[in-house]
Amino acid sequence: MRFASLLYKMSRWIFLLFLLVLVVACGPRQNTELEYAPQMYRSPAYKAQEYDGSAPQLSVMRKPPQGTVPIGYTPYTLTLADSLLQDQMTNPLPMTAEVLQVGRKYYNIYCIVCHGPKGDGMGYVVPKGMQQPPSFITGQTTRWSDGRIFHLITRGRGNMASYASQLLPDQRWAIVHYVRALQRAGKPTEKDLQELEKRGITFTEDVPDTSVSTSVPKQ
Ligand code: HEC
Repeated sequence: MRFASLLYKMSRWIFLLFLLVLVVACGPRQNTELEYAPQMYRSPAYKAQEYDGSAPQLSVMRKPPQGTVPIGYTPYTLTLADSLLQDQMTNPLPMTAEVLQVGRKYYNIYCIVCHGPKGDGMGYVVPKGMQQPPSFITGQTTRWSDGRIFHLITRGRGNMASYASQLLPDQRWAIVHYVRALQRAGKPTEKDLQELEKRGITFTEDVPDTSVSTSVPKQ
């Protein structure tokens, strides 16, 4: 067979070629390897934490330009000095049972530890050394507008932090309604007491209800 004999004659060369490939493949490691389709290894897209190639001192993840706001977000710009504007804000939510449930849920998550289940300032951390917050039942908040309470939750004051990053504006407004409910429960009128008796409602320790939806129901 001609092909077989040809192969036999060339076998020496084939063997040498094989050796050559082996020697080249065993070259020094520091040599860059040949990459097939390098775009697949190194994406041309930048990663958020990388430096920006076109502005070497800046990270790719830039601060948005001043004045930029996310879609659907209304910036809150009032300061402590804007007390008149605070008073002009009205609670956009109706005081319904659903809204109060949301308010109660978030009060019990974020506020109860200091302000207490009744809002009297006797939270669980107060006997442990935390400054006692003013009572919602006897303190100045009984005379405050809803907007002023909303402002305080949004901005914080003294030992109380701002809750703007934990609570959406609607959730803060729901809490304002709940604070109003606590105030009424703390100083019930004769009529309130009669109503409670008529409905057979007795006060129990408030336990956080985790089954409640996390946001205020859409109107
Ligand atoms: C870490 C404890 C703590 C937590 C949690 C906390 N507060 Fe306070 N709160 C305080 C303290 C302390 C003050 C008094 C601040 C001051 O001295 O200026 C205060 C003041 C207030 C006041 C003004 C009371 C007044 O009579 O002047 C309101 C209203 C209020 N808090 C609402 C809330 C709400 C609503 C939440 C939950 C979103 C909350 N707080 C969470 C500690 C806390």
